[in-house]
Amino acid sequence: MIVDIINKKRLGQILSKEELEFFFNGYLEGKVTDYQMSSMLMAICIKNMTEREIFDLCDIFIKSGEILDFSDIEGIKVDKHSTGGVGDKTTMIIAPIVASLGVPVVKMSGRGLGFTGGTIDKLESIPGFRTDLSIDEIKQQVKEIGMVVAGQTANLAPMDKKIYALRDVTGTVESIPLIATSIMSKKIASGADKILIDIKVGKGALLKNEKDARKLSELMQKIGKEYNKEVRCLITNMDNPLGTSIGNTLEVVEAINILTGKEKNSLTDLCIELASNMVSMGKNISIEEAEERVKGSIYSGLAYQKFLDFVKHQGGIINNMKLSPNKYDINATKAGVIESIDALEFGKLSVTLGAGRINKEDIIDPSVGIVFDKLVGDKVEIGEKLCTIYNNREIQLPDIESFIKIS
Ligand code: URA
Repeated sequence: MIVDIINKKRLGQILSKEELEFFFNGYLEGKVTDYQMSSMLMAICIKNMTEREIFDLCDIFIKSGEILDFSDIEGIKVDKHSTGGVGDKTTMIIAPIVASLGVPVVKMSGRGLGFTGGTIDKLESIPGFRTDLSIDEIKQQVKEIGMVVAGQTANLAPMDKKIYALRDVTGTVESIPLIATSIMSKKIASGADKILIDIKVGKGALLKNEKDARKLSELMQKIGKEYNKEVRCLITNMDNPLGTSIGNTLEVVEAINILTGKEKNSLTDLCIELASNMVSMGKNISIEEAEERVKGSIYSGLAYQKFLDFVKHQGGIINNMKLSPNKYDINATKAGVIESIDALEFGKLSVTLGAGRINKEDIIDPSVGIVFDKLVGDKVEIGEKLCTIYNNREIQLPDIESFIKIS
């Protein structure tokens, strides 16, 4: 019985694969209700799961939908996933770098929810850009230009889609077994040969400490082994927003600036690190050699050319992007050095401006967001600009200067 299985987990007992199948498949079929699943998810959050249970649950998630097969595309396909952050535009930068070096990138990306952004929303701020590609279109584009970034097809790990939405509103997102199952089911169903995962830790991330990040990393690598897929995890900081902008069009502009070498900051370093890992996995070469190739691709303009090809292939017109004409500067009232920029508060502000969603149905305003003139470690004088807010709404802005700590 459904309630017996919930009680078993509430008491911290181990569920068999049959019990997990009965319960979770029952949810997808509508036999288990939202309130019963919420109760089960909370029991998992509190009582945890054994590795065996996690492997079984992940397998059930994977098999709930289609499993993509890209074996007819030559080369080792490497996918990348970030556990989510503020101003994280790394996919738009590293996918063209990696593809320009002959490693095929087939990337299924998501939309933003809550204070974290999503690559699909960012790319759709380019007028005409299509993300709803069919599997045939995805394969064709990878064969032609070596890369594609598409929205998750409806039937890819549908169990995760349904359960993630419920976790989001029941306080059950922050569970390591559930995060590992959610991420790995999507990645394995997406059909890549190797997977790189950027685990974000800090104020603006799901995970707030390194110990949990290391646990998640180990677990995801073990799940990968079950499917014969190499999984590499990097643990990177998310206390401060990534790079100089938050907001959809603004982040595309920043990605272009990094790819063309006009901007260089800690985001550039992170992108080089991620891209080097992907190239090292895809070409079976050392990180050092991969890093040289990655830097070469950026400085020679090869990566930017690949980005332009990619945008054109997916219907985007890069020259037609629009920013809100309503700009508002935040100037420093104190001199010193920037100690921190609160990723969580700025993430929430970007949602207030309309750059992100509170509910799934909300429509994004691609033209709004925040651009930072000063980053962590920069000196600032009284009256100097800290950041610019692009806004289209009649809203009362919070005390934005208080989100930036100057010491
Ligand atoms: N990203 C996901 O895809 N799933 C989670 O559970 C957390 C982050």
